[in-house]
Amino acid sequence: MHYDELLRLAKSRRTIRVLRPDPVPMEDLEKALEVARWAPSGFNMQPAEFLVLTDPEKRAAVKRIIDDWIEDDFYVLEATREAWQGPAWTLEDRGRVACPAAPVYILIVGDTRRKAGLPMNARFCRQKGESIFETSLADAFAYLWLGLESVGLGAQPVSAVKNDRPQALIKQYLGLPEFIYPYEMLAVGYSGLEEGPPAKLMRHLDEIVHVDGSGEGMFLSDDEVRKQIRKLRMGNVARHAPSE
Ligand SMILES: Cc1cc2nc3c(=O)[nH]c(=O)nc-3n(C[C@H](O)[C@H](O)[C@H](O)COP(=O)(O)O)c2cc1C
Repeated sequence: MHYDELLRLAKSRRTIRVLRPDPVPMEDLEKALEVARWAPSGFNMQPAEFLVLTDPEKRAAVKRIIDDWIEDDFYVLEATREAWQGPAWTLEDRGRVACPAAPVYILIVGDTRRKAGLPMNARFCRQKGESIFETSLADAFAYLWLGLESVGLGAQPVSAVKNDRPQALIKQYLGLPEFIYPYEMLAVGYSGLEEGPPAKLMRHLDEIVHVDGSGEGMFLSDDEVRKQIRKLRMGNVARHAPSE
């Protein structure tokens, strides 16, 4: 693959929060999952497994678990935002925040038993072991998302699965063993957006790359970071369409 194609793929992968209910061909899902299979993992432990939920009853049950948590906890915690952070998500944003009714959910889970294959320094240093495990799952998640994009499928992450209550209830509902860790979920389907997602604000390369740099001056000041957080966040909630 050439650089230009890779960059185009990286740029075209977006979060699609409006997904059509139309069914998705299993062979396209398999192609995307095949990309995810090749993701790097710490010490090649390959902890990621993918639970593909196509059964409407199973999807509805998972969606209910997530939406209940959003209703009970998410908005309550959002209300604790500090003023500088900008407006909190409220019930009015429900359509964007709720778990989308997509034709497929892919739950990315990690098999915690595989941590036993890490070198001893990572095995006995909890923080390092966890970090390698989580990063390996993150890589599988990113590869999967790019794979989905490459076959023309849209996806929205549903990170709520990682909170205690949804995690426990999803594990119980799907009968997952104790050693399985629900890491992330992608709701998958064809995009229902008429014009594609709004352009997104990205930090510039010269702001984030520091060749032979040193010292605090390489980084934005506290105030600049706060301003940027607010700006990026407002771009993300897209109450107004941000420019490139
Ligand atoms: C680890 C991770 C978790 C995310 N969780 C959610 C989520 O729970 N709900 C959601 O709507 N978007 C979620 N997103 C999407 C981000 O908001 C999105 O990637 C970001 O705003 C950049 O937009 P883009 O994906 O269109 O490039 C998540 C993204 C990542 C990488």
